Amino acid sequence: MKLLVTGGAGFIGSNFILYMLHQHPDYEVINVDALTYAGNLENLKSVEDNRRHSFVQADIRDARAMDELISHGINVVVNFAAESHVDRSILEPDVFVKTNVLGTQILLDAARRHGVEKFVQVSTDEVYGSLGETGLFTEETPLAPNSPYSASKAGGDMLVRAYHETFGLPVNITRCSNNYGPYQFPEKLIPLMISKALAEEPLPIYGDGLNIRDWLFVEDHCSAIDLVIHQGRDGEIYNIGGNNERTNLHIVKTILEQLGKPESLITHVKDRPGHDRRYGIDPSKTMGELGWQPKHNFESGIRETIVWYLDHQDWWTRIQSGAYREYYAKQYGDSL
Ligand code: NAD
Ligand code: DAU
Repeated sequence: MKLLVTGGAGFIGSNFILYMLHQHPDYEVINVDALTYAGNLENLKSVEDNRRHSFVQADIRDARAMDELISHGINVVVNFAAESHVDRSILEPDVFVKTNVLGTQILLDAARRHGVEKFVQVSTDEVYGSLGETGLFTEETPLAPNSPYSASKAGGDMLVRAYHETFGLPVNITRCSNNYGPYQFPEKLIPLMISKALAEEPLPIYGDGLNIRDWLFVEDHCSAIDLVIHQGRDGEIYNIGGNNERTNLHIVKTILEQLGKPESLITHVKDRPGHDRRYGIDPSKTMGELGWQPKHNFESGIRETIVWYLDHQDWWTRIQSGAYREYYAKQYGDSL
């Protein structure tokens, strides 16, 4: 089996490549990534010399490059490549549309031309919008994206659906909740707060901090995608989540407690515009149909993650480069 993984140098993509190479000793993985600010080949250092893994630096918006790559006997495409950060999409929406919508369409076209056996679109629960105090997102929940990021992911998903309905391309869409774990870029809540707490800098909480996210350890996301590749019914959507709803304040207090830092570091800043209040996934279809079960309990998973960031300070301090700091200044301005 030959897999093309797009965005494989990012957080989830790199975890997925490591997972698949380990799980399937006969699979070959080709990783295509443009290496934007979020792409980091250091994540894949442990498989650098693995002959079943190769890396190509290319942009999914480059139709010729994607056609060439997919023409070489690719069985499965798993599309992780995306602009993934909501706050950046508020500052600069256009690249989100270009990568997440146009890039997806270019991949779909190449997949169709070369008779790919499965195209998996890695999407997000954010396409469903925001929940009230009760209820969960099912695969039938109407799409109601609220940020340019989620709107662009919903646009990509619609194209995936259309290529199945119109051209019969064998596709699946997965919609997962918030991931956490090793190699997450330190702009996202958990690694950002760990790095701030260690530096004893203010921890910026948007609004009242009572927004809820449904957390899943990244390896559990990877195992679900593996099952979707092999058992997913063509054209179906699969929601992925581990029933771990927590407020942002709970997450931040857990980090401070584990690191032995004071809660006085918590600083409430201006809320994110269009900030979704609550996400919660109903994973019963994925569990029932595919037999998926998450392995990580949230309380131990978050502890393990904090230890990973403590042990890999070189990894994230190297990332906190000039470009990252420039974005950070734009995002938080004088509020800290
Ligand atoms: P990430 O930002 O860490 O990684 C994205 C990767 O895509 C990077 O390596 C980047 O270089 C690459 N990339 C960006 N634009 C590209 C382009 N035009 N061509 C080729 N490569 C490009 O993101 P992540 O958190 O690993 O998310 C991966 C996917 O999973 C995304 O599609 C995201 O929407 C989805 N997702 C993420 C989460 C989460 O909690 N992080 C949850 C559900 C779904
Ligand atoms: O739900 C899945 C989505 O989860 C993915 O599709 C996205 O790619 C991924 O980035 C993530 O989106 P969120 O917006 O939920 O993640 P983020 O880490 O940016 O924020 C999590 C919560 O924490 C959110 O309610 C906003 C809040 N937050 C975030 C940051 C960065 C803060 O309060 N302060 C911060 O500095």
